[in-house]
Amino acid sequence: MGIGATAGVAAAGGIALGAQAADGSSGGSSGASGSLVFDPDAYTKLTKTITDADGADHSVTYHFWKAITYVANPVDETYQSLIVSAPVEIDGSTVDPANAPILLANSIGGYLPASVADATEVGGGGSAMGGGAAPSGAPGSTTSAAPNANGNTNATGGATSSNQLLALAAGYVVIEPGARGRTLKNSAGEYYGTAPAAIVDLKAAVRYIKANKGVIPGDVERIVSAGTSAGGALSTLLGASGDSPLYVKYLKELGAADASDAVFAVGAWCPITDLEHADGAYEWNWGTNALATGKQVDQSVSKDLKGQFAEYQAGLRLRGLAGFGPLTARNYDDYLVEQYLQPSATAYLAALSDSDRETYLASNTFITWSGGKATFTWADFLTHVGARKKDTPAFDAFDLSAGENNEFGAGTTASRHFTAYGAKNDSTGLSSRRVAADIPAKLNLMNPMYHLVEKVNDRRSKHWWIRLGTNDSDTSHVISANLAARLDNLGDDVDHLYYWDQGHGANTDPGDFITWIAEVTGYRKGKKRS
Ligand code: DHB
Repeated sequence: MGIGATAGVAAAGGIALGAQAADGSSGGSSGASGSLVFDPDAYTKLTKTITDADGADHSVTYHFWKAITYVANPVDETYQSLIVSAPVEIDGSTVDPANAPILLANSIGGYLPASVADATEVGGGGSAMGGGAAPSGAPGSTTSAAPNANGNTNATGGATSSNQLLALAAGYVVIEPGARGRTLKNSAGEYYGTAPAAIVDLKAAVRYIKANKGVIPGDVERIVSAGTSAGGALSTLLGASGDSPLYVKYLKELGAADASDAVFAVGAWCPITDLEHADGAYEWNWGTNALATGKQVDQSVSKDLKGQFAEYQAGLRLRGLAGFGPLTARNYDDYLVEQYLQPSATAYLAALSDSDRETYLASNTFITWSGGKATFTWADFLTHVGARKKDTPAFDAFDLSAGENNEFGAGTTASRHFTAYGAKNDSTGLSSRRVAADIPAKLNLMNPMYHLVEKVNDRRSKHWWIRLGTNDSDTSHVISANLAARLDNLGDDVDHLYYWDQGHGANTDPGDFITWIAEVTGYRKGKKRS
């Protein structure tokens, strides 16, 4: 592209771009470092058959932009690039994606690097370890890919790619950003993808999109972020921390576009977040469940951590949904059962045929089915889930073996402690028994709760879709529930439910998510936003 595209961006709102290429050119068709100008003509036209949530096939023709670098001074373009897919014809009818919502779907898993550099079609992203919702390389992950809309497992997408495909078939624009992740190391042995790299990259991608308002397809004021697990955590963080000044210096270093990084709405599946409180929350939830080996975790460590959770929970001063009242470590079991778990089992059982329901209830006698409602105790629920996935502490491991220890690595140090308790009980002999001086600020940069509790951010997303499988012991069930309660207490619109008997990475209602996007954004195909 030439000068014309630059003028196009200026005409679309006179946005100051972060930088131009050093040679003064505005770059090539895609992937040219230095230019932050979207070239509307640099697409290829693709057609794909997409099966919707009701099982009907749709022929979708869309414009596809291969990897575009979204910062002017990339550290690693392999990760700091995004792909764009915009539908132009669905089942033979022309659609105009100009004002459609934008699904910003990341494929980050395990806090690992995610790249779209080689993607050749929508849903083409993935983490370095295999891609999608729950990469096989993610710590403790067993679900490599959840079924997509077709009911098939999709090796490159899982829970996430069914969202992308259904969004495209609904007429939405789909933008998939890559991002740096914790394992990336340069030739000097320095880790350049650890915290806060991934969130800074996602923010830079949002800024790129917003700086190209009117040129890039879609309504840049209606960006809906989506992700699963670590990607769900980062999606949540993106929504919570919109336009926070804390990230500005990092964004400047990368030459991110000079635009807002706030997003309109958030979808998050099994977010692995609130990391510095997750060890305590984990023991509160799964403390007495044995590991898959049958071994109990160290119960004295578990008790210490459980005590820390009680203190943390009290300090949050959250009120449960539906008038539950104050949420504490003492009543959170009742809250989860009443608010989430029984309704989840009820919905599951209600959808079964009478004979299938009878069979299920016969092999799950802990459930009482009466008057069309499932009831059970928390203790029986824990037994039903069975083995806990992680040893204790689940996130800040004493031997620095958790993925999250690596996420808080820095410089040439691969893995570090990020909680006082983890540091104090370090078993590697390498640690100073205190967290490093830069850790508290990095935790704030990585934790959506910081932006919702300690420093309430008015520029946050106000619409939240949160989902979690009831069998998922990658983190505590209270992590999502606390997030939802806090957002609700702040007055935001929260749609949160747990999928019965589903594990890590599940997304069993992607069609409902697509419908929800239309509802919260006010979008109707072929109509301008009202
Ligand atoms: C993921 C899973 C984990 O158990 C974890 O600690 C972090 C991330 C994931 O699947 O992305």
